[in-house]
Amino acid sequence: MTTVTRLAALALGAALVAAPLTATAQSFDNHLAARKGEMQIMSFNLGILGGMARGNMPYDAEAAQAAADNLVAISQLTQTVQWAEGSDNMELSNTRALPAIWDDFADFQAKWASFGERAVALQAVAGQGAEGLGAAIGGVGGTCQACHEAYRQPN
Ligand code: HEC
Repeated sequence: MTTVTRLAALALGAALVAAPLTATAQSFDNHLAARKGEMQIMSFNLGILGGMARGNMPYDAEAAQAAADNLVAISQLTQTVQWAEGSDNMELSNTRALPAIWDDFADFQAKWASFGERAVALQAVAGQGAEGLGAAIGGVGGTCQACHEAYRQPN
């Protein structure tokens, strides 16, 4: 073995030993960061559209379309990975996810799918003018609210 391959083998060995340790000490911090991050992206983009619909921000077809496209893109992310069982607010202090999510994960995913459907409807009108925005945003907002009421600890 050359020194380089020996070093590489040592490093690989160290990584293999370290991996299970990391998994045992797993804190779900990355799961929480991932799902809170996607929610923040949704909130950010919906906020841009809301600002335009309310006239707090000048309507810009391209920006509105981009925001709606982002909502659709997020809705297409598979939700199983970042919502690991055991990462609820009874087990952890830094999440508002209720354990009820895992009592009926199919319903949780159905609520996510409704958000996706409404996001697609918003995407179809977002670039067509400020007039149609309000109703389509309301449709999306209703799906955020429905899931939060069922599965997120109130503040
Ligand atoms: C299928 C369920 C579901 C849908 C749909 C949903 N949310 Fe959430 N949302 C949650 C849950 C559960 C949490 C709590 C996550 C946590 O604390 O781990 C959350 C948290 C959040 C947060 C707080 C994130 C943070 O940094 O702590 C924001 C903001 C948010 N959602 C915005 C939205 C918006 C905007 C929409 C709609 C466009 C939406 N959510 C749709 C379930 C959902």
